[in-house]
Amino acid sequence: MKIKMGFAILVAGLLLSGCSGSKNVIYVDQLDLKQMESGWGQNHIGKSVDGNPLKIAGKTFERGIGTHAVSKFLVKIGGSAESFDGLVGIDDESSKPGTVEFMILGDRKVLWRSGIIKKGDIAKEVHVSLKGVDKMAMLVTDGGDDINYDHADWINARITYRDIAPTVTSLVQKEPYVLTPQNSKPRINGASIIGAKPHHDFIFRVPVSGKAPLKVVVSGLPTGLVFDAKNRSISGKAPASGVYEFTVNAENSEGSVSKKIAIRTDNGLSLTPPLGWNSWNCWGLSVDQNKVKAAADAMVSSGLADHGWTYINIDDGWEAAERTKDGVLLANEKFPDMKSLTDYIHSLGLRMGIYSSPGPKTCGGFQASYQNELSDARTWSKWGIDYVKYDWCSYGQIAKDQSLPELKKPYQLMRKMLNQVDRDIVFSLCQYGMGNVWEWGGEVGGNLWRTTGDITDSWNSMAGIGFAQSKSSSFAHPGNWNDPDMLVVGKVGWGPSLHPSHLTPDEQYTHISLWALLASPLLIGCDMTQMDPFTLNLLTNDEVLEINQDPLGKQAKQISNKDGIQIWTKPLSDGSLAVGIFNLGSDNGIETIRWDDQPNLQKVSLSATDLALTGKLKVRDAWRQSDIGEFDGSFEAQVPFHGVVLYRISPVK
Ligand code: GLA
Repeated sequence: MKIKMGFAILVAGLLLSGCSGSKNVIYVDQLDLKQMESGWGQNHIGKSVDGNPLKIAGKTFERGIGTHAVSKFLVKIGGSAESFDGLVGIDDESSKPGTVEFMILGDRKVLWRSGIIKKGDIAKEVHVSLKGVDKMAMLVTDGGDDINYDHADWINARITYRDIAPTVTSLVQKEPYVLTPQNSKPRINGASIIGAKPHHDFIFRVPVSGKAPLKVVVSGLPTGLVFDAKNRSISGKAPASGVYEFTVNAENSEGSVSKKIAIRTDNGLSLTPPLGWNSWNCWGLSVDQNKVKAAADAMVSSGLADHGWTYINIDDGWEAAERTKDGVLLANEKFPDMKSLTDYIHSLGLRMGIYSSPGPKTCGGFQASYQNELSDARTWSKWGIDYVKYDWCSYGQIAKDQSLPELKKPYQLMRKMLNQVDRDIVFSLCQYGMGNVWEWGGEVGGNLWRTTGDITDSWNSMAGIGFAQSKSSSFAHPGNWNDPDMLVVGKVGWGPSLHPSHLTPDEQYTHISLWALLASPLLIGCDMTQMDPFTLNLLTNDEVLEINQDPLGKQAKQISNKDGIQIWTKPLSDGSLAVGIFNLGSDNGIETIRWDDQPNLQKVSLSATDLALTGKLKVRDAWRQSDIGEFDGSFEAQVPFHGVVLYRISPVK
């Protein structure tokens, strides 16, 4: 009797504790997949990222998860799991070859890695012991190239465990944090020099921030230009070739301020990098007139326009399928009236940009400008367009080869046509850097030129592009800018659905700081009607924007790269130096997953000699807009993982 009783207690105990010794299996698709990050598109259960049946190297699978690099998923298993099993591979739906690497991580260590997997490789088996692991992560990296075409499938992914069932843990690395203090004093922002061509239509919204009501007065404008206080914009006809200085005064209950701004009509356009918005990174081909209007309204109502943001640029997706019988390019039904849209944008004091390709079709397959260049330039001019992005794409079928004359030809041609219309049209070359475009983009009449392929909102993409820009540095000048592609902060998505940028808050500080240092055109890629205070803070720090808009027009160079810390410096017109200290950490994506709340600051010490300066240095933190102090010898900075400190440093006289 005694023995029987003891046995019954033992069995009940085992059942209750759930650790009966029997193994339980949970499929990853039974967990809350909302927390799984995907570098592009949406994760799907039982389907690929594009929503097709899961298929790897010709074989279809019933069960699994379709995702896209860079993909991350963190699971709390609490030391009670036995193993992770499944198959991995690139889905056959990828339209071009992509490469990825799958990894299983446990408590900050790589437990298993697939090695580089290419499209067409048969599904690879995963069996990883999870004994003693507290947190496990499933990671898909871009395999060392970029994330394009990286449709990645986890097949039959499952965790075998004994006691505690695995649960999902949030991946959020850090809450967004705002560094810049509110400033209620009046401040006149933006460039101190504006480029325009003689006798052309001129439009400029004077960027002034500070507590409302603000009184803004403009004096000393050249004849032909008038200031309208209602929308704070100057318009009219630009004066004859020369340099004209005018004064802006701004006043509110907190004080008054004045600034001199010069209009130059003798040195071309974009004398500082263009600041604006472009529809592509949020709306992709789903852009329409209402979205563009909403963007323009938001640029004003959010206050961005008060910090110098000016251009509202429509990317691909606006063009009608057919031209008129006279060959005139038309907008499609999503843009019922391009001229009144432009008029509306101008009425806000903003400028309007458009997109086309030198080939027969744009990248999105829409009507483009091949053999209609003059007609299209005239159409844009009639509509009042101020900026044209000209995207190579199908011109690849027209060009005889990739020689320099062939690469230059379509841009020379469009430049010639743009010169025949009496409008200031900024010319943006987009051909992803072919033939080292930075060496000749200015010569063919470009104001800016893309130096790289398309950016996405992943660390690998943003950092991969941004930190590789030293080579083009010496080619940046007022009127000629290297363009490392548009910004990926805020809500992006390439349309129609959007998601918050996958960059962590520190990575977003890095992105804006680096692009500011690089004197890059800054084109906001998010839905400006949905910006949170963090995103707005990133885009409205005037001391950061001042670094970007500095009239000297120098692009930063990397001056050191050691142990994951990179230092970039940009000489500024007042003799000071903008200095970015970046903490890149290691590059395997492991640290981008928050395992614990471990401190992630890296101490960096810097001296005048490191910066090729002498004597005492005055150091100011641009994001915090505060003086750090004066230093003899060296000073120390604390740089967050994947983050930055951005300083303005001047020798003390
Ligand atoms: C290319 C460009 C992008 C965007 C799309 C539009 O990919 O690089 O910036 O303009 O085309 O189709």
